Formats: sequence, structure tokens, C-alpha cells
Amino acid sequence: MQIFREKEPLIQAIQKIKSEGKSVGLVPTMGALHEGHLSLVSNAAKDSDQVVVSIFVNPTQFNNQKDLEKYPRNLEKDLNLLKVELENIWVFTPDASELYGENILSENFDFEGLEAVMEGKFRNGHFNGVGTVVKRLFEIITPDKAYFGEKDFQQLQIVRKLTEKTGLPVEIVGCPILREDSGLARSSRNERLSSGNRKKAAFIYETLQNAKNLFGTNSADHVSQWVEDQFKNHPSLELEYFEIADSKTLKKITEKEKGNNYRAFIAVYADEIRLIDNIALDN
Ligand code: PAJ
Repeated sequence: MQIFREKEPLIQAIQKIKSEGKSVGLVPTMGALHEGHLSLVSNAAKDSDQVVVSIFVNPTQFNNQKDLEKYPRNLEKDLNLLKVELENIWVFTPDASELYGENILSENFDFEGLEAVMEGKFRNGHFNGVGTVVKRLFEIITPDKAYFGEKDFQQLQIVRKLTEKTGLPVEIVGCPILREDSGLARSSRNERLSSGNRKKAAFIYETLQNAKNLFGTNSADHVSQWVEDQFKNHPSLELEYFEIADSKTLKKITEKEKGNNYRAFIAVYADEIRLIDNIALDN
């Protein structure tokens, strides 16, 4: 394992292996690694000669200062997990000035509406922050492929749009959601849940699966109403949004059309902790 805190030595190391004809796969993360992240690393290792994992808690994508402060950071633990997963791994863990210079500011992107819905609606400026840091990482690391989880499906589609619009030659690979035994989607935030709420939060995926079944024979509106009713009666979980949307445009659907792919998206609060999940729907 090699650790790079500065970009220059990393750029040089990458130039060297690329000149030898080797391919580079990038897994961008904010640390607090869990099996979801490690599954991206394992996918990257399958089809890239050199895997680079970035660990950087990106300030510009947090719309809530408290959330940024409370974001779990444990570099030593992360490095140990990565070492076990893949011996020959490069880790890029810069500080903010290394990536941003003096002004830690977002660029403004036009993601053609993908940024305006769901997470974008509830987290102002979030996707400009994600776009800014991902673009920076792509410019520095020049990966052939970059791996993103479907856990953050909207982010995945936005990163695809980013590469389309900037012309950066990176293939974006989407990877399936890893879950805890209870069905709860793995997330760094799960560590902050009380043990009681961690158990209760399994209700989120349970509801998504029920919604998927209902969607087979019911309209999107009906399913959405049903989901809202489930959470109305729930003592510990508060629904922020549930939406059924087209997988590509992320536009909320009004009528089902044969041949289109749809997904259900959900955001829920358990105490102060915001959890998101999604599921592919059959059509
Ligand atoms: P982070 O939340 O650390 O997630 C890093 C990557 O791991 C993302 O692509 C995310 O979708 C994926 N991931 C997280 N939980 C997962 C799970 N349970 N199953 C599969 N994949 C999972 O997403 C970010 O960081 C940041 O926004 C980042 C892209 C690094 C930009 O700062």
C-alpha cells in the first residue's frame, strides 16, 4: 500500500504506470469505510491494474455544517481495511488546500435537471460540491474507470452526466448496494444510530421491497401514498421523501410506460440521522 497526501507525487506515479500501458481504477470515498466501499475496491481490482482509493471528507458537498463536523473520520482504521482488501493499493488522502487551493468553493454545474430533484432539493448545493471534487479527482488521477455505488444512485447519474459534459475520458461503473443482514443499506452513518434505531431502520428496505411489489399492479401515486401512510404510523422514523422516478432522467413518473426503467427512492430520518436508499422496479 502506498499513501499519497500530495497530488504531485501521485500524478508522477500514475504517469509512470500509464506509460507502461497499465490501467487505473479510481474509487472516490469520504472514508469511514465499510463493506459497501470495499465492494467497489474489489470491483475495481477485477478490471484495473492499479486501484487508487481517495479518502477526503469534501467540505463543499455538506449543506449542513454540523453534519460535516460529525462526519466520522478514522484514517488508521480505513487504511487497515484497505490493506487487507488489496495489498497493492494506492490511497490518496489530501487535505482541503491540496485539492482546492485557498478558496474552498464549488463550481456551478448544469446537470440538466438531475441535480434539482430528491437529494438536490433537500440538500442545497450538494451536487455542485460533489461535481467539483469528483472533477478535481478525475483531473489529478486520470483514471480509466471510476467506481460509484448505486446506494447514491442520483450521485451516480450526476457523475455520468459530469463526464459527458466535461468530456473527461473516464468510464463510470455503477456497483450494487451492499446491505447489512437486516436489509439496511450499509452506510457510514449507520454507526451513529442507536442500536434500537439501527434495528428499526430495517423498515426502510422492507418498505422499498413492498413498494416494489405493489408497483407491479398499482400506479406510482398509489404506491407513494401507501409508503407515506406506513411512515405516518411509525414512532421512530420520519419520512423526508419517497419518489418513483425514471432511472435515467430521475424525473418523477406520472404514467408507467413500457420499456422505461424506474426506481423508487427514499430518504428517512432516524433521530438526527438521515438515511437514503433506493430499489430498482420491474416494469
Ligand atoms: P461516500 O459516502 O464515502 O461513498 C463512497 C462510494 O461508496 C460512493 O460511490 C457510494 O455510493 C458508495 N457506497 C456507499 N455505501 C454503499 C453501499 N452500501 N453499497 C455500495 N456502495 C456504497 O459518495 C461519496 O462518499 C462522496 O459523495 C464522493 C463521491 C466520494 C465525493 O466526495
